[in-house]
Amino acid sequence: MKRLRLGILISGRGSNLQALIAAAAAPDYPAEIALVLSNRPDAAGLGRATAAGLATAVVDHKRFAERAAFDAEIDRALRTHRVELVCLAGFMRLLTPGFVAAWSDRMINIHPSLLPAFKGLHTHARALAAGVRFAGCTVHFVRPEMDEGPIIVQAAVPVLAGDDEASLAARVLEAEHRCYPQAVRWIAEGRARIVDGRVVIDGAPAPPDGLINPGA
Ligand code: GAR
Repeated sequence: MKRLRLGILISGRGSNLQALIAAAAAPDYPAEIALVLSNRPDAAGLGRATAAGLATAVVDHKRFAERAAFDAEIDRALRTHRVELVCLAGFMRLLTPGFVAAWSDRMINIHPSLLPAFKGLHTHARALAAGVRFAGCTVHFVRPEMDEGPIIVQAAVPVLAGDDEASLAARVLEAEHRCYPQAVRWIAEGRARIVDGRVVIDGAPAPPDGLINPGA
């Protein structure tokens, strides 16, 4: 089986990276991790990558005066490792339009909200402040505007009475770890197509009925 070569970009903990490492360990998973790249030398996710025997690279943004030069260095590393799909997994740097264009439809991101709600930072605190009944996560193709682009998969989780930022983040994170490997699988299998700016997943089952929160 020809496996799609992933380049995973991280900045920190790397729990989504870990979910992809676990998924790719299955012999029938259609993607493999060719490179894990961090912009922070101290990112905990680098340790996870090394423990899994993966190639790693650090491109420290502090060494670059210009964003374009930083992005060019990342681009070089990705191409050296023959990456076919870039997965942003807690990568906390904005990428230049040139880089995004170069990887158009070949770069995806995970964000801890039901986009287009709560783009940007502090999503869980803002969801709690807004009093929404559902939170969730989104995996989407990357476009130049932050947290925008065709949506591949979303998961909704309830916001529960008594939730704080940490408890909500943990519930969403668990959903993230299921969604990211699934989105990558669909792309690797050639089943995720962008049609008129939206993603169509060939042969994906319809979900069960919707949820109501609070329940009756
Ligand atoms: C995840 O919750 C991810 O959705 C979020 O950062 C966290 C990284 O965790 N990404 C963003 O907020 C991007 N806008 P991880 O390093 O454990 O995967």
